[in-house]
Amino acid sequence: MRVLVIGTGGREHALVTALSLDPAVSHVLAAPGNPGMAAVAELRAVDPMDPAAVAALAVETAADLVIVGPEAPLVAGVADAVRAAGIATFGPSFEAARLEGSKDFSKAVMAAAGIPTARSYTCDTPEQAAAALDEFGAPYVVKDDALAAGKGVAVTDDRDTALAHAAACGRVVIEEYLDGPEVSLFVVCEGLTGVPLLPAQDFKRIGDGDTGLNTGGMGAYAPLSWAPADLVPVVMSEVVAPLLAEMDSRGTPFGGLLFVGLALTAKGPKVIEFNVRFGDPETQVVLPLLRSGLGELLHAAATGKLAGHPPLEWHDGAAVAVVMASAGYPVTSRSGDVITGADDPGVLHAGTARDGAGELVTAGGRVLCCTAVADSVPEARAAAYRLVEKVRFDGAQHRTDIAAER
Ligand code: AMP
Ligand code: GLY
Repeated sequence: MRVLVIGTGGREHALVTALSLDPAVSHVLAAPGNPGMAAVAELRAVDPMDPAAVAALAVETAADLVIVGPEAPLVAGVADAVRAAGIATFGPSFEAARLEGSKDFSKAVMAAAGIPTARSYTCDTPEQAAAALDEFGAPYVVKDDALAAGKGVAVTDDRDTALAHAAACGRVVIEEYLDGPEVSLFVVCEGLTGVPLLPAQDFKRIGDGDTGLNTGGMGAYAPLSWAPADLVPVVMSEVVAPLLAEMDSRGTPFGGLLFVGLALTAKGPKVIEFNVRFGDPETQVVLPLLRSGLGELLHAAATGKLAGHPPLEWHDGAAVAVVMASAGYPVTSRSGDVITGADDPGVLHAGTARDGAGELVTAGGRVLCCTAVADSVPEARAAAYRLVEKVRFDGAQHRTDIAAER
């Protein structure tokens, strides 16, 4: 099977790495990809936001399966265009991708399906926003209705900051604050069938001890020894099954990767958000633990065969990923800093590029992610930080407390 992965990030680097280890996959392509992926995949140029161009590339490369990594192309209908060209595609339709593309839509679906989540109001004016903030009280949670590349959510104790974020966004969802540890659960879906992967935890804020600004994610680990033993079955029955049924009944069945972002509150797991693609950097720790073939699993989901797929097998042990970001992140990012020491296969690239002289340089906020697998979380953590110590670039930032003892 020939598999084409669309995207450029650490998540896509983890996807091509896992695909390259699947005996059912004969050839891996990535478009546009990044320099790190060149070791395991054939790189092709494409504008990932152009549905017709991605479909044409899939045909030209004789792909048997296309995996669309990031949310923006999915919301733009890229998966629909590739499917229309007759190629098996892992990724939701643009209609189903609204679960991530509009927070208001996502909340409406959750309400209709009776899924546990924060109470919320959708607000279009400053007056509505003020009333909603005052009803829920601090800490305030204000979410841009539309996709905002990880910058759409403000969680703050300051009412003026919350109001300013609402004014800057236009339409927002304002909701009650959910207290409790966060868990990311990925579910491979097709119609009414969902196959859960291992729960993982992401570290959202830039600073140690969860301080500072929100980021796309500064590190992750799995498995979560502290999570309740029944977490996955509870989320599958209370969240995933009703969601898939609701989407199906609307005539827009969900196929692809459902990312359930949860808070484990005193009243049980509640949904913080749905995303319609693999998370970054959680993917970098979940996929190295998957023993079953990734290509076969996602091909089954893309071709109506997920319900008959054998149960997934997992490696024992644990995985830890530590993100290294460029100077200025998450407010700005710096390009062109030379990177050395990033040759280990556990170093998954994201914002990297080759300069005119062929040197590896920074090219974005989250530059790369040092990932290690070992028998236990502490051992994987130590190995991941050994990789971090080897990687050098000016202005590099990373957290020192990823997967530390809780
Ligand atoms: P998102 O960009 O939607 O992933 O949200 C970013 C982060 O904001 C989440 O990972 C949470 O840490 C936080 N967040 C979002 N909604 C809530 C909520 N209702 N209560 C508490 N924290 C939240
Ligand atoms: N790690 C969170 C996300 O991918 O949105």
